[in-house]
Amino acid sequence: MSETIQNNQTGQTPQAQPKRKRILSGIQPTGTPTLGNYVGAVRNWALLQNDYDCLYMVADLHSLTVREEPAALRRRTRELAALLLAAGIDPVNSVLFVQSHVPAHTQLSWVLACNTQFGELSRMTQFKDKSAKHPDNVNGGLFTYPVLMAADILIYNADLVPVGQDQTQHLEITRDIAQRFNNLYGPTFTLPEGYVPAAGAKIMSLAEPAKKMSKSDPNVNSFVLMTDDRDTIVRKFKRAVTDSEGSVRFDVQNKPGVSNLMTIYSAFTGKAMADIEAEFAGKGYGDFKLAVAETVADALVPIQTEYGRILADKAYVDGVLKDGAARASRLADRLVAKVYRKVGLLQPER
Ligand code: TYM
Repeated sequence: MSETIQNNQTGQTPQAQPKRKRILSGIQPTGTPTLGNYVGAVRNWALLQNDYDCLYMVADLHSLTVREEPAALRRRTRELAALLLAAGIDPVNSVLFVQSHVPAHTQLSWVLACNTQFGELSRMTQFKDKSAKHPDNVNGGLFTYPVLMAADILIYNADLVPVGQDQTQHLEITRDIAQRFNNLYGPTFTLPEGYVPAAGAKIMSLAEPAKKMSKSDPNVNSFVLMTDDRDTIVRKFKRAVTDSEGSVRFDVQNKPGVSNLMTIYSAFTGKAMADIEAEFAGKGYGDFKLAVAETVADALVPIQTEYGRILADKAYVDGVLKDGAARASRLADRLVAKVYRKVGLLQPER
């Protein structure tokens, strides 16, 4: 990539030489983000901003693959943008935008869909899982979901994609699509790498620790939301499923509940599992759960305060998103024009 992300406020590129690598990631505005979303992805988005050119996106088009109440989707899209800002996304150095505000994503998606095989989309585990969950609505968008995600990433020639473990299969297909396109039409796309955190790439449900923590889980005690207050966080961790052994020991196979809590604790404190085991040696699960809950609350409560402040300023949030869409579109439109030319679409007169 030769172009860098322009900063509209200063009119300058945010970094001097040498050129920094580029990051793109996204999150769907379906429900409020959980602790899993935060630890697996959003927290890293904020941390990576100093070292990379970052584009972060509210993936509203992806949310249409499940039925959404239109007014709620609109409201949650703005809320999620505010929450990302509260979690530390800097809208000056990074580009924060809403996916549907940059039409080039869907334009590229069609071309990529024509270069993706039915067989490879059929193998996507998320498609199989979501089809099983919503058997009454196995729509075409659900099937081609990974193609739109590939377009999101490839359209910016992103080098790195910070995501949780559940998205790694989608990254693999993105690379396959890019590689195939490059072989057919000549070098066009960067092959992106995933950035999956060492601790917390897959935070599990507090109620059923064999399952991923998910905001769409009908059991509200299975997840902690980024907006849950301290009392709710403490209550949910107190109820978290553990085991009857009574010792804080990391053993995912035999002690999935305790191991999940240890992973969460480790993700927030940076402590190694052995140190956590030593810290709680001889103590009961009650003390341990309270320590995890307090640590999580200490991290989330300041974000919540900031969230309330930012969300109250609707004009500010909308202004950030408008600026973000303009900056993203400049990059994305150029790439789409290049791809359209390469695949043989006649360019319109300008
Ligand atoms: P979404 O909205 O389901 O989740 C957003 C991010 O949170 C991570 N995540 C988790 N990490 C750890 N533990 C969990 N329990 C957990 N649950 C969710 C996800 O891995 C993800 O990184 N398809 C994407 C959105 C998307 C996207 C993109 C991502 C659209 N286009 C382009 C990256 C690049 C999704 O549904 O994420």
